[in-house]
Amino acid sequence: MMYRYNYYAGELIKLLGNIAGLRILDYGAGDGRITNVFKEAGADIEAVEVKYRLVDELKKRGIKAWHVSDERVRQYDIILMNNAFFYVHPKDRENLLHKFYHLLKPGGRLLLSDIPDFHKRHRWYKNYIKTAWTRLIPIFQPRLGGWWVDLNNLQKQVKKAGFAWAVKWDSWAYYRTHLLVFK
Ligand SMILES: C[S@@+](CC[C@H](N)C(=O)[O-])C[C@H]1O[C@@H](n2cnc3c(N)ncnc32)[C@H](O)[C@@H]1O
Repeated sequence: MMYRYNYYAGELIKLLGNIAGLRILDYGAGDGRITNVFKEAGADIEAVEVKYRLVDELKKRGIKAWHVSDERVRQYDIILMNNAFFYVHPKDRENLLHKFYHLLKPGGRLLLSDIPDFHKRHRWYKNYIKTAWTRLIPIFQPRLGGWWVDLNNLQKQVKKAGFAWAVKWDSWAYYRTHLLVFK
């Protein structure tokens, strides 16, 4: 299992370039498998989680971690949100993007990676009726509460939040996309 996370983290590091010495915030870090690889690559990394249980687990693994509701005043070179942005309710996305904007240093980067892409959902369902149905209710994995995200809209939203530009990349998963955003 771990080798997969090494692969994902490696792909993300390829996208970001040399991360040694950079101050990075891993937002929605889970149990810290990606965080750890970034730490080993020399990043000065901290993690944020919405689940208290995971905050504790991250701390046990020696990662600086805190809960989403704790206020932060530090600024970061990079914010990473891998395989997590699609859990944010569409109504909350704008606020979160503003928060990210303020948490980044000038010239900082935001990587929203591995997002289930609304425009690739036909690859997942492979069924016209089910694909069409998600136009009405764009929920992905209903039990987990995630959403298909329209990356074209997201590109507009990040600009509205103040970011300079954003570029899309194909993910390792055939129905997902990464968005790299520049402040
Ligand atoms: C599929 S896991 C991915 C974990 C990690 N980023 C990785 O790639 O291994 C998604 C994580 O996002 C967290 N999450 C969900 N909604 C969140 C939110 N609004 N803010 C921060 N974290 C959130 C969940 O608790 C979960 O740990």
